[in-house]
Amino acid sequence: MPAIEIKPDVFWVGVNDRTTDLFEGLWPITEEGVSYNAYLINDERKAIVDLSKSLKTDEFFDRISEIVAVSEIDYVIINHMEPDHTGVLRTLRRIAPDVAILGSAKTKQMLASFYGITENVRVVEDGEMLSLGRRTLQFFSTPFVHWPETMVTYETSHRILFSCDAFGSYGALRGAIFDDEYADLDFYQKEALRYYVNIVAKFSKPVLKAIEKLADVPLEIIAPSHGLIWRKQPMAIVDLYKKWAEYATGKTEVGITLIYGSMYGNTDAMMNAVAQGISSVGVPLEIFDAARTHVSYILPSLWTKAGVMVGAPTYEGGLFPPVAQVLDMAVAKRVLNKKVAKFGSYGWSGGALRELKKIVEPVKWEMTDSFEFAGAPTEEDFERGKEFGAAFAEVIKAQG
Ligand code: FEO
Repeated sequence: MPAIEIKPDVFWVGVNDRTTDLFEGLWPITEEGVSYNAYLINDERKAIVDLSKSLKTDEFFDRISEIVAVSEIDYVIINHMEPDHTGVLRTLRRIAPDVAILGSAKTKQMLASFYGITENVRVVEDGEMLSLGRRTLQFFSTPFVHWPETMVTYETSHRILFSCDAFGSYGALRGAIFDDEYADLDFYQKEALRYYVNIVAKFSKPVLKAIEKLADVPLEIIAPSHGLIWRKQPMAIVDLYKKWAEYATGKTEVGITLIYGSMYGNTDAMMNAVAQGISSVGVPLEIFDAARTHVSYILPSLWTKAGVMVGAPTYEGGLFPPVAQVLDMAVAKRVLNKKVAKFGSYGWSGGALRELKKIVEPVKWEMTDSFEFAGAPTEEDFERGKEFGAAFAEVIKAQG
């Protein structure tokens, strides 16, 4: 896509990435892609807000060159140091050696450690303004959204918030950059949730703090560095982020995430009976085979739903490893305060339940019930499984 004018003097100059398989080397985006949005303010003094990962470097600088010679750029504003937004920085410095790099005090430290850049770096303070001529930028410190050095940049005349990771999503842009250019926003909203839970959710308290801090700043456009620019309904994405951040400690949605794994089909067979019981109560249910689904896609359900049903056999005296790995990541991401129940098959002794309790203890999941059976389930076991699922669904429903 060419450079796109967002407002007079303000341009999107981002890069679409449909070739990276794992974001942060961890989260799958093979099908969805991602964008690294950067913004050029072409004023008497010229500024770029955020950059790009070091891929398609020629394309990135060509895009800027459509508007202004790269060597004429006066300022690069680093809202966030993570290399998906700064990877082309050293190349930029070679093209434009006099460019001043602006960021927080911690950004200055990180520029030295990540890139060996120490010259012509200027620390900006929380609330500081920078006049470019006709346009003025203001910087707000928003630590831990996503790293400790993070800030956001506000363009005062058009009321644009360049928010970097905040309010971003996975999903490469599909030929248009604004929310009002997409008839169906479901894809980006779903990918915004997956991005939030994968990348930002552990820092939900700082997210709420940042939203609170910016509550009195008039916003006409939210321009994140991943995904869509929100100009038709800028507060829609802010409200979603606020809701998701509040899920970290508050009430979540009535619903159950069923995570299961099965070695020879016995726990799988019981899973269907448990699911039947849950569905008979009318509680929303999402089912994930832990061995075949990347945890990136399971975390959004775990984050938003009140209940977790774990189906896993005992494996070598412990919890079936693919299920344990999903739960380990949920603990790492601080998925707190769920109600949990467990079912599954065992061969000669149990052990899965004991390990499950140990894994989720740090995140305060409340074990409500368990149902384990030896070998293959009998008809009586299936009946019990249905009742077990229905009873757990009633517990979750009662939370609504
Ligand atoms: Fe998009 Fe935290 O980097």
